Amino acid sequence: MSRKYIIAGNWKMNKTPEEGKELASEIASIVSKDATVEVVVCPAFVALERVSQAIESSAVRLGAQNLYPKTSGAYTGEVSPEMLRAVFAKYVILGHSERREHFHESDAFINEKVKFSLENLLKPILCIGETLEQREAGETLDVVKTQLLGGLDGVDASGMSNLVIAYEPVWAIGTGKTATPEMAQEVHGSIRSLLKEAYSDAVAAKTRIIYGGSMKPANADDLLAQPDIDGGLIGGASLDSKSFGDLIDSARKLS
Ligand code: 13P
Repeated sequence: MSRKYIIAGNWKMNKTPEEGKELASEIASIVSKDATVEVVVCPAFVALERVSQAIESSAVRLGAQNLYPKTSGAYTGEVSPEMLRAVFAKYVILGHSERREHFHESDAFINEKVKFSLENLLKPILCIGETLEQREAGETLDVVKTQLLGGLDGVDASGMSNLVIAYEPVWAIGTGKTATPEMAQEVHGSIRSLLKEAYSDAVAAKTRIIYGGSMKPANADDLLAQPDIDGGLIGGASLDSKSFGDLIDSARKLS
């Protein structure tokens, strides 16, 4: 496959800096310098620096879980792209459903962050996905389309080469319920078709679309084997180096 798999751990609000350093060191020793699969860890802001040091001599990449779309200034409690780059973060998760839900983030605000990240040399992992209510009402593809095109408004083809899409059905996050490989593939395939229409065949073929929502070693092989699933954004199973390592192995086997 021409698209390299990404296995990214979203640690959410878990792990102190010390705990994060330990987990990151274990992951760094599993991955070492093997870059067959792109491995990314996304700790909380306060743990970024120590995690960064722990993965320094490995192929593991660092990501943040959010940013604020301004360079600096009077934005109490917020973190800028420059601050993230200073601790060697390469990726940033944007538009996660937990931020949409608890912090009322709109597609327009997420779009502002996506563009600001790209301008400031951070690669967004743009999360989109429907709630259970929306799925049951048959609205999945409409919701995904609105979030995708809203989040990407004004992003050109060169921006797309530095961006990853994460499809995360909200009803599968942290619930133990996973989309079946067929359900996930259907949405991933639709996302790729939307990218074809909005950009080109080449952009659609190159963009990585990863799956998130209770991905774990027991279901990863089947999900990752789908033609349009290019990796995983993992919550719970990324907090333990054994299960995260098994997910990396699943992607390596298919590479
Ligand atoms: P879980 O893997 O815990 O379901 O979380 C998925 C997620 O939200 C990753 O961003």
